[in-house]
Amino acid sequence: MNAPAAGSRHVVLVGMMGVGKSTVGRALARAMDRTFCDSDDEIVARTGRSVAEIFAADGEPAFRALEIEVMADLLDRDEPSVIAAAGGAVLAEATRQRLRRAGTVVWLSAPVQTLVDRTASGAHRPALADDPAGTLTRLSAERDALYAEVADLRIDATDSVDVVVDAVLAALVEGADR
Ligand code: S3P
Repeated sequence: MNAPAAGSRHVVLVGMMGVGKSTVGRALARAMDRTFCDSDDEIVARTGRSVAEIFAADGEPAFRALEIEVMADLLDRDEPSVIAAAGGAVLAEATRQRLRRAGTVVWLSAPVQTLVDRTASGAHRPALADDPAGTLTRLSAERDALYAEVADLRIDATDSVDVVVDAVLAALVEGADR
């Protein structure tokens, strides 16, 4: 497959917990022959602590401050990459502004029940410890406007990884042709 002409800028995936940003991002980066980065992984690498540990020991505001720093650094990198931005990254106005300048922002979306099913395993989401369905419903309602604000493209991510990656690639090519 030809690498799509996404230009010389980043492709950034945003969207809710469990929508598949990291899995799709990794496969997309492979297809585009680009480096993949994930904001949660970068926070863990920098601090030597898990997301859950940071939430528990320092609280969510401390985690969000780290997230703003990490997103700024990832988006500032010269090498055009595929970047998965954790679900709450868009909460910060500073990050939303950077996202608008960073390249192509792809909002992956899926129904809440899909998010519930996909977040059933995995320990880096302390916010979902109690009532995951209720929390995901509330957070989706709160954040959809923020994802919409930063996104150039919205792609339905309900289907398999391969189908979603192909949809993103097709949309990037179409955007480049316009
Ligand atoms: C969060 C999303 C998580 C992680 C943390 C908070 C959120 O990342 O950063 O648990 O508030 O949406 P993923 O979106 O990769 O699950």
